[in-house]
Amino acid sequence: EIRNAVDELLSQMTVTEKIGQMSQCTASAFSFGEDIITAPPEELAAAGKVGSILGAFDIDRVFELQKIAVEESRLKIPLLFNADIIHGHETIFPVPLAWSCSWDLEGIQRACAIAAKEASASGITYNHGPMVDITRDPRWGRVVEGAGEDPYLGARIAEAQVQGFQGDSLFSQETIIACLKHFVAYGAAESGRDYNTVDISERTLRNVYLPPFQAGIEAGAGSVMNAFNIYDGIPAAANRFLLKDVLRDELGFDGMLISDYGSINEIVIHGAAKDEAEAAKKAIDATMDIEMVTSLYREHLPALIEAGFVNEAQIDLAVRRILTFKYKLGIMDDPFRYIRPEIEQEVHFCDEHLEASRELARKSIVLLKNDGVLPINSAEGQTIAIVGPFANSRDLLGPWQFSKRGDKTATLLEGLTGKLAARNQVLLAEGCQVEHEIECGFDDALEKARRADVVILALGESSQMSGEAASRVDISLPAVQIELAEEVVKLGKPTVLVLTNGRPLVLEWFEENVNAILETWFLGSQAGHAIADVLFGDYNPAGKLTMSFPYHQGQVPIYYNHFNTGRPLTRDNQHLKFLSKYLDAPNEPLYPFGYGLSYTTYDYSDIQLDKHKITQSETLCAKVTVTNTGVCAGEEVVQLYIQDLYGSVVRPVKELKGFKKIHLNPGESREVTFCITEQDLRYFNADRTYTAEPGAFKVYIGSSSKHVQESEFELV
Ligand code: IFM
Repeated sequence: EIRNAVDELLSQMTVTEKIGQMSQCTASAFSFGEDIITAPPEELAAAGKVGSILGAFDIDRVFELQKIAVEESRLKIPLLFNADIIHGHETIFPVPLAWSCSWDLEGIQRACAIAAKEASASGITYNHGPMVDITRDPRWGRVVEGAGEDPYLGARIAEAQVQGFQGDSLFSQETIIACLKHFVAYGAAESGRDYNTVDISERTLRNVYLPPFQAGIEAGAGSVMNAFNIYDGIPAAANRFLLKDVLRDELGFDGMLISDYGSINEIVIHGAAKDEAEAAKKAIDATMDIEMVTSLYREHLPALIEAGFVNEAQIDLAVRRILTFKYKLGIMDDPFRYIRPEIEQEVHFCDEHLEASRELARKSIVLLKNDGVLPINSAEGQTIAIVGPFANSRDLLGPWQFSKRGDKTATLLEGLTGKLAARNQVLLAEGCQVEHEIECGFDDALEKARRADVVILALGESSQMSGEAASRVDISLPAVQIELAEEVVKLGKPTVLVLTNGRPLVLEWFEENVNAILETWFLGSQAGHAIADVLFGDYNPAGKLTMSFPYHQGQVPIYYNHFNTGRPLTRDNQHLKFLSKYLDAPNEPLYPFGYGLSYTTYDYSDIQLDKHKITQSETLCAKVTVTNTGVCAGEEVVQLYIQDLYGSVVRPVKELKGFKKIHLNPGESREVTFCITEQDLRYFNADRTYTAEPGAFKVYIGSSSKHVQESEFELV
């Protein structure tokens, strides 16, 4: 039915109107850098020269522009409204790097479903998310938007996010189109500098960077956005191998492919096209359906078609895909169906959504160190000093959020005071700003810390220090905060570091000098309450890192699933010289992938395998018994890793292949079983096929990529 309606409409469209559907502009006339100035959206909408609008965060503006499109344009085709709904719309959830540390797929899916429910009530129909780039370099600011360094976990989280945003049907008024970005390998930007050169092998592309996209496409994502980087020398926006051969033909993606902001224009700047017309041709030849914000399609496609350089059938394909989604959303019959101010009132920042945000926030916190100072016993009537620029800051939402309710973000101070009885005294001192001193700041902080029984050092990065175009060469805390910490630590009080930040940081000094470290990232609207829940033991932390934390920034990129070398460093050969190692730092990270402590402890039994040899059609079961050996209940993420000991090409030392999050009461034991099939052992091998090669494998099960039990089996 939709296909016929699309064909019928397409047959009435002029070339200009078709290109209009393929063009996107911002909600207000907007300039980006010096190069891009868009025409007024009203004018474009009335002339049928735009098909979608970026960043209309105000429902009245959505209504206004939709009205112009459906009343004034010749064919009255409604607009799509696009926005970056990365971790919430009005109710803000933890940043994606944080929520990935929950390893809670249901919780993440729910967060996306809530974000979609809130955004769709404001008329937004098309999300510029989820970001599913694999990230191995913490200097890159955009690590905050993704699920970390692992392709398997990244793939599971990509599926959960797509299912959350899109639900069972795009026709529902509570769902929005999901867009997987950025295709592909954007996370491999050299030296972690945003938009920088990417130069990776096709094998790395396929084994590391593609899996989350594949999973998101299989989960039904309606859209994909290209990356800004080159791949094999060709900008992704013009890369027919990536976009047509791999994305469309191999992965079977038939949704809307949208260019990232300015990236068609940038084909020229990269030096891969002689002018804008050639860039437009390359993008359309690569099957790019929608041009975000720039106007190369509008300006050059008509002449390219006229001259026979672009076939009108190419743009028909793109327009067909776009119109199909407009029908699926139901806006062709009812253009205003998502614009619902009364539902906005009901659902935006409602108690139920805030509770879901707090729950996921608690689950996203990672306890990196604890010598027993945590949880703080609030019944003891202690004096607690909160010291540092994040002690009472509302900058806890992180980048990529546009909530109008940022002033309602729960601060750490509010979280703490909300919990403590009158006999507990809370002393507050900012001490310094994120990157600057303040007058008498240290004196005030130290005076208060001196009077306290416990000091909470609330330090971190501002939300401007991660996200797009926010790369850092120095991934330590800003110097002024380190100085403040050094002074506080000299007082010898029990000291807890509470971190707010958007990337792994270098924390060796803190590991050695403070009593406990809580990694809280940017936790969203309920941040302060969630942190207080953990500090006082109302919630037992269970988060596990999804990116490695280096000892030293000279170690980056650093990730657990690296290859062996011909000269690996082992525990027994440290004294030898000609090894793959540093003279001045370990090879290992300070905190590895999958790591995170709890207020209880867990014991893992040896691994039991039901067989030690499997054929291509058999399943191997690997089982451990996990016991809660501490005094409080908790959750544990039991992780399965596999190592393919040799292959037609070298294989990583370990790869995550499964995980289960379990709840255990004190003293309780649970058997956890993982089933391994030939599918789990496949990779893109020397024959350029996805194959499980016969041979020996190690299987590891444990509480992190480092702390594992191991066994072996063979694929015959
Ligand atoms: O969606 C984003 C993308 O991730 C980076 N460039 C801008 C886009 C639109 O906001």
